[in-house]
Amino acid sequence: MKIENLVRKNILELKPYTAARHSHFEGILLDANENPFGAVIENGGLHLNRYPDPYQTEIRKALSKYLNVHLDKLFFGVGSDEIIDLLIRIFCEPREDNVIICEPTYGMYKVCCDINNVEVKSVPLNSSYNLDYEKIVAAINNKTKIIFVCSPNNPTSNLLDKNIIIKIARENNVIVAVDEAYADFAGDSSLINDITDVPNIVLMRTFSKAWGLAAIRCGYCISSEEIIRLLFKVKFPYNMNALTANAVLKALSNVEKKNDYVQIILSERERVYNKLLGYKKIINVIKSDSNFISFRVEKPKEVFSSLEKSGIIIRDRSNQLNFGGYLRVTIGTTEENELFLSKLEEVL
Ligand SMILES: Cc1ncc(COP(=O)(O)O)c(C=O)c1O
Repeated sequence: MKIENLVRKNILELKPYTAARHSHFEGILLDANENPFGAVIENGGLHLNRYPDPYQTEIRKALSKYLNVHLDKLFFGVGSDEIIDLLIRIFCEPREDNVIICEPTYGMYKVCCDINNVEVKSVPLNSSYNLDYEKIVAAINNKTKIIFVCSPNNPTSNLLDKNIIIKIARENNVIVAVDEAYADFAGDSSLINDITDVPNIVLMRTFSKAWGLAAIRCGYCISSEEIIRLLFKVKFPYNMNALTANAVLKALSNVEKKNDYVQIILSERERVYNKLLGYKKIINVIKSDSNFISFRVEKPKEVFSSLEKSGIIIRDRSNQLNFGGYLRVTIGTTEENELFLSKLEEVL
């Protein structure tokens, strides 16, 4: 397949902005109208008065080492949300092309399409909340540019079938964007080792979940060099700020801590799941591959509000397609989980 054939004409023809730091990082830097004296705040040795590296070189190198993936296949975004938006802008002609999502799923795929005026075709997940290959293929037409799949999926929490994802990508002329925001909680199920020869898959990850860095706004993706080049072409020149980049470097030298957090969350997940299974008023609890659990009750809105009144905030997902009655709770600390469980028992 030719990725180029899927790209919007204006993006292929685009002459990207050349920022000052694209060409020079060193020397007497009088090229970017910065403040030469320094930042007005303490900066821990960072040169906050200078624009950051548009090529994201240091963080890509560090990530490349961590993932064992060549840095030409890596791109950082302001959260994976930025990557979702950039993919739509690269591949989808507004009012012409379409995107397929498999619902219920993460809401930003549709919101980004709506903002970009790109049609969304919704293909429901099957009754086990997995991908329905035939239905997806039937929904693809010559205006379909991207299929977003989320694995493990939010809000259903389960992993999707890897083989189906790869089959869709191999057999169809579309970009398959696989959102692995929750992959750290799903063992070694990632597609990372399966995409080397599938250039149309974009694997998206984030520092917002297992790494505990939601506030720094940093996501990344792994894909073919061609797609990575396109992302660099359209992004804002300085999308990765120096504070975020510095936090990423520190995080990547502290992988054990992330793994420790994951272990605690997994054991808490098991405990909360088993407790929820014992609550008679709960109709279903989905076995989770993520750091949250979705469970079904008869009156989700009432349960949600009662918990909210006692200061316990979970997420009501019952309005999502084929997800009637479901509430979603994030795995918290042991103490938070205990409070949630005891209050829920009372409310039910
Ligand atoms: C599936 C999924 N993808 C992406 C994100 C957002 O990631 P980021 O914080 O990197 O933008 C979320 C956040 O909840 C999510 O659930």
